[in-house]
Amino acid sequence: MKIAVIGSTGQLGADLVKTLSTKHEVIGFTHSDIEVADYDSLVILKEQNPDVVINTAAFHKTDQCEEEPQKTFCVNALGARNIALITAEIGATTVYISTDYVFDGSKNEPYTEEDIPFPLSTYGISKLAAEHFTQQNPKHYIIRIASVFGKAGASGKGGNFVETMINKAKNNDPIVVVDDMFMSPTYTIDAASILKGLLELQLPYGVYHATNKGFCSWYQFAQEIFQATNLSPDLKPTKSDPAYGKARRPLFSALASTKLSKYNLEPRSWKEALHAYLIEKGHILKDS
Ligand SMILES: NC(=O)c1ccc[n+]([C@@H]2O[C@H](COP(=O)([O-])OP(=O)(O)OC[C@H]3O[C@@H](n4cnc5c(N)ncnc54)[C@H](OP(=O)(O)O)[C@@H]3O)[C@@H](O)[C@H]2O)c1
Repeated sequence: MKIAVIGSTGQLGADLVKTLSTKHEVIGFTHSDIEVADYDSLVILKEQNPDVVINTAAFHKTDQCEEEPQKTFCVNALGARNIALITAEIGATTVYISTDYVFDGSKNEPYTEEDIPFPLSTYGISKLAAEHFTQQNPKHYIIRIASVFGKAGASGKGGNFVETMINKAKNNDPIVVVDDMFMSPTYTIDAASILKGLLELQLPYGVYHATNKGFCSWYQFAQEIFQATNLSPDLKPTKSDPAYGKARRPLFSALASTKLSKYNLEPRSWKEALHAYLIEKGHILKDS
């Protein structure tokens, strides 16, 4: 397959390029190559004529999205619409990367692909709008991930939670993390492998949840990071403050897939994935 990856230097994009290149022709597009909100800058996709276009681009600083709803919708929703239109025109498949923040958290157990989204924030609403626009190309996959960690670190957010925790611990900073907000972490290598499998097996078009298996609170995630790396910082749990930040966030946004196991694409647990990431980054040794 000839596969275009938009946002190719981002946290997920970099691992998609790496993983897909093992078997396919991959063309990576950075933000300086393409502005997803600008239809004209996407003409390059027509010239390249790929079989698949994966859109990882997003404005995803959740609190800033509340202050800049126009930019949020231009990049996330309009960007997805532009790509759906172009891919439909050239007969390519669109892959849109979405989020657990399309849910409000009231289910209190993991959300599956069948659950009805109800986002709380401007970011979540823009991503849900993007999911709808993506469906304008009948050949589409919507891949929901959450709480991402990957070697490249999120360029849009300046790193990831794992690196933030390790840096704080090494600086002997006191660390306070919420223990009432639950999610399913996603290792970018694993999400990229699932996506590769899904494309190669030509799974039915639609929505797929591709986080790692299981869920934890952010506090439990931090505890696991420190246990695995043998760091012992001053870590304390706290309750989330509804007044914190501008965006409303779901308290329970764990995701589970009812589809992937049918195709032998079930992800490993978030703890195994975290361990693999810590090895990849050189934070721990292979058999520790
Ligand atoms: N990070 C998370 O925890 C998380 C959780 C759930 C879902 N997601 C979703 O997963 C996807 C990938 O996240 P990530 O962590 O890999 O993000 P990332 O590291 O910020 O990567 C996004 C990439 O897209 C590029 N980009 C940003 N705006 C663009 C635009 N308007 N036009 C073209 N390219 C643009 C960025 O380039 P520049 O940096 O040069 O602008 C970057 O290379 C996003 O759709 C995000 O909404 C992320």
